[in-house]
Amino acid sequence: IGRTIRMLDTVDSTQRVAREWVAAGAEEGSVVLAEGQTAGRGRMERKWHSPQGKGIWMSLILKPTVPIHFLPQLTLLTAVALCRAVKQTIPVECGIKWPNDLLIGGRKTAGILLESSAEDERLRYVIAGIGVSVNLTEEDYPPELREIATSLRIAAGHAVDRTELLQTFFKQFEDLYDLYLQQGFGPIRTLWEASSITIGRKVSVRSASGDITGLALGIDEHGALLLQLDDGNIKPVYSGDVEARA
Ligand code: BTN
Repeated sequence: IGRTIRMLDTVDSTQRVAREWVAAGAEEGSVVLAEGQTAGRGRMERKWHSPQGKGIWMSLILKPTVPIHFLPQLTLLTAVALCRAVKQTIPVECGIKWPNDLLIGGRKTAGILLESSAEDERLRYVIAGIGVSVNLTEEDYPPELREIATSLRIAAGHAVDRTELLQTFFKQFEDLYDLYLQQGFGPIRTLWEASSITIGRKVSVRSASGDITGLALGIDEHGALLLQLDDGNIKPVYSGDVEARA
C-alpha cells in the first residue's frame, strides 16, 4: 500500500483522479494524495471540507478479489486501520461511529467514502476515499461545522505530522488487509466492535427508507449494524446515519 503515490496540489476530488488512474491501469495499493480539494465529496452526496495543507485527503485504489457484497466489510476495515493509526500517532481516544466515521470527543475527525465498480458480481476495483482533518484550527471550520467537527491538532493541542500519520496508516491498513484476505471478516469484525462507540447504545438510524430506533448490538458478518427493536426483534441495517438516543 502506498508504494506508488501521486501527490497533487489542488484538485476537485482525489476520487475523480483515482478513477481515471484506475481506467489507465493503476495497480492495487496506488494512492492519490492532494494538498487541497475544491470539491471534496462525502457520503450521501455531502461536501467534504478539505482546506489546503491542513489534512490528509486521499484515495486508495484496491483490487480485492471478493464478491461485491463484501464492500461494506472493506469500509469497516478502513475505519479500524485509521482509528489505530490515529491512536498510535497522538494520545487520544478515537472511536468509530457506524459505519465509518472517526470521532474524537464526540466530534467528527475523519470520514471514509468507498466507491467501487463490479463485474459479474465481483469487485473490479474499490476506491477508498479517506479524509482526515489533521491540522485544522477552529478558524478553518465554517460555523456550521465548528460544533460537530474537530481536528487532530485541536484534540492533541499541537500540530500533527501528516507524513508520520500517513505512514502509520499505510502500515496498519496493510496488516489488516492481509489479515482480511487470509482469514476473512471475522477478526476485523472483532476489532471494529472493540473500537466502536455505537455498540451498546440506543440509536436512531436515518436512511432513505425511514428512521429505525433500537439498541445497537453489534455488526453481522456482512458489516450490517444489528439493531434490537423495542419489540425484541433484531434487524440488520445496511446504510444510514446514526444518531445517539438518550
Ligand atoms: C464522509 O464522511 O462523508 C466521507 C468523507 C470522505 C472524504 C475523502 S477526502 C479524499 C477523498 N476525496 C473525496 O472527494 N472524498 C474523499
